[in-house]
Amino acid sequence: MSKIATLEIDGNKYEFPIIKGTENELGIDIKALRGATGGVTTIDPGYKNTGSCESAITFLDGEKGILRYRGYSIEELAEKADFLEVAYLLIFGELPTAAQLEKFDKDIKEESHVDEDMKKILDGFPKSAHPMGVLSSLTSALIAFNPGSVDVDSEEEMYGAIVKILAKFPVLAAWTMRKRKSLPLDYGDNSLGYVENLHKMMFARPNQAYEANKIVNDALDKLLILHADHEQNCSTSTVRIVGSSHAGLFASLSAGISALWGPLHGGANQAVIEMLEAIKADGGDTAKYIAKAKDKNDPFRLMGFGHRVYKNFDPRAKIIKKSAEEVLGDLGIEDPVLDIAKGLADVALKDEYFVQRKLYPNVDFYSGIIYRALGIPTEMFTVMFALGRLPGWIAQWREMRLRKEPIGRPRQIYIGENYRAFKAVSER
Ligand code: CMC
Repeated sequence: MSKIATLEIDGNKYEFPIIKGTENELGIDIKALRGATGGVTTIDPGYKNTGSCESAITFLDGEKGILRYRGYSIEELAEKADFLEVAYLLIFGELPTAAQLEKFDKDIKEESHVDEDMKKILDGFPKSAHPMGVLSSLTSALIAFNPGSVDVDSEEEMYGAIVKILAKFPVLAAWTMRKRKSLPLDYGDNSLGYVENLHKMMFARPNQAYEANKIVNDALDKLLILHADHEQNCSTSTVRIVGSSHAGLFASLSAGISALWGPLHGGANQAVIEMLEAIKADGGDTAKYIAKAKDKNDPFRLMGFGHRVYKNFDPRAKIIKKSAEEVLGDLGIEDPVLDIAKGLADVALKDEYFVQRKLYPNVDFYSGIIYRALGIPTEMFTVMFALGRLPGWIAQWREMRLRKEPIGRPRQIYIGENYRAFKAVSER
């Protein structure tokens, strides 16, 4: 395989190196393109063909349905690791030793309080506010309570900021839900594990002792692991690009939360359940909705279907589908919406429209069904995604800063008016 790509423009030839990743992915390094050609640029809306960085965090192969964090398969991590171990792995590159994990857990617990004045900010939101908007704002507000920039070259300062946000983020997420439900805020219990404590902060009743449920906690742990990173997706790219201006970690994360909110990204998990509910209310006619999804004059899309990278299957969806069946079985819940989901998937997977376009159920197709079974309100689903994605965002932000990447600033091809002289308002 050649190590050089040649581009010819108007009879002039330009050579660019081809770089190879550790999994043999190839990329044409066009860093010198504009300089060599006198300003020719590339155009690639949606970055479908553009690599924005080199990264050692997550590998995914969309054709083969492979997803690995730092080399470990998602299947094995979901089965054998817990969320905090996975967070450490993603952020620092290796699975923690017992001593490292103990310290990590202890340091997070040490930071797991949120300034009381943050409550005043939370109070200012109407109860009807979407939790993703509230979470993004509260994450941004944390900056005011933790001012001072982090020296990214100081391992200690970097570690301190990471531990702080891992500790406070679940508190903010839980509080957004409690506010919506008119429940008094809960401060958690540091004798519990990370995920168990999150669950307590969300669900503990003020007049009742909290009882942990192993099935629920194991399912939550697995869901968070499955969402923990997914290389350069929309929210992660947002975190990296905001951070590339040397905006701080919390500011970059707040922007990432906003990016995740959209229904084409993390917001799809809420959209899926709403879609399945609507189909149920409409008599459960899946064929009708498959036809709508295929109709180019109808804006309806089958939510939870399709993926920019996975073109065979989404390995996370496989794990989640099995997990959804197990959790519903273990909790003794019968959810007709699961049957509608299975019916839709069965029809779509055989339908030429979906087969031709390689559209398969993605991670969000089944996750909402488990969240519902765990008693999580629909509008909190994307917050659960954000809780899972937090270590991935942190890992990517840290990598970007440590690699001293330049500020993200894409080019464009201008297609507007050419020069024209200004006309006074009386002449227009
Ligand atoms: N239902 C019906 N048609 C679809 C769907 C869908 N869910 N997804 C893609 N298509 C069609 C699309 O109309 C296009 O058809 P054509 O070639 O005839 O114009 C073709 O498939 C390619 O679609 P695209 O929009 O160009 O593909 P993309 O890579 O830009 O978009 C996607 C990927 C995930 C945004 C898209 O598949 C989608 O909107 N899916 C529904 C939303 C969803 O489930 N999002 C969650 C993604 S996984 C979690 C995460 O990482 O956020």
